[in-house]
Amino acid sequence: MRARTGPCLRRFSKPANQNTKPDAAAGGSATPPKPRLPVTWTSLGLAVVIGGGLVAYYQYEKERRTTQAMSKVVSYGKPSLGGPFTLVNMEGEPVTDASFADGYMLLYFGFTYCPDICPSELVKMGKIMERLDADGAVTKDKVTPVFVSLDCKRDSLAQLKSYSEDFHPKVEFLIGSPGQVEAAARAYRVYFSDTNELEDDDTDYLIDHSIVMYLVSPDGEFQQFFTQLSSVQECVERITAIVAEAEA
Ligand code: NI
Repeated sequence: MRARTGPCLRRFSKPANQNTKPDAAAGGSATPPKPRLPVTWTSLGLAVVIGGGLVAYYQYEKERRTTQAMSKVVSYGKPSLGGPFTLVNMEGEPVTDASFADGYMLLYFGFTYCPDICPSELVKMGKIMERLDADGAVTKDKVTPVFVSLDCKRDSLAQLKSYSEDFHPKVEFLIGSPGQVEAAARAYRVYFSDTNELEDDDTDYLIDHSIVMYLVSPDGEFQQFFTQLSSVQECVERITAIVAEAEA
């Protein structure tokens, strides 16, 4: 099952079947066609408002379905979510899941050229970290935020490094070979669009990908997922509760 939240790449498809009724007047009916009114600014404005509402609803509905799908994955397949991975950090040093075994991982998959969703999720991650650090005792220094890049073509170590400067200093940015990244993503059931079909010189593309944060315990066990709809407050409360329970 593919567990995916809204893609970074937003696609809107028109309904394939515009159910147009055959024109009843065509057979020579009595009523003459009304003269068409010109499009007024008011009706245009109204169309924009309605359109915007539909877009918002579309996003919300997609998010809600993903949460449902993820809940099913979690309740039916908890043991199969997560697993070992081998990647490299921004220094080019090998990193595995075991590298984080002294604490919890807050794990997210994305790419640095993502126009808006990944940056806002990383900002959220930073806020969660600030809150956890401020809250002290239970979670202090026990959670490491981890960003795994899905973009092997463009996310070089230098690119990751300069990108990382915009976010919380604790975030670990990881990358790997296409096979390593794919294996890590597969372990967490992260969907992402295939960039292997691109031409070698193609550098202008977006990666459609799941938007989920995972909390992973020191023994590598998946604990909890958070979607775009999860607020900083909810994430902090949940993480604190999970860590506190394990410490008790
Ligand atoms: Ni993204």
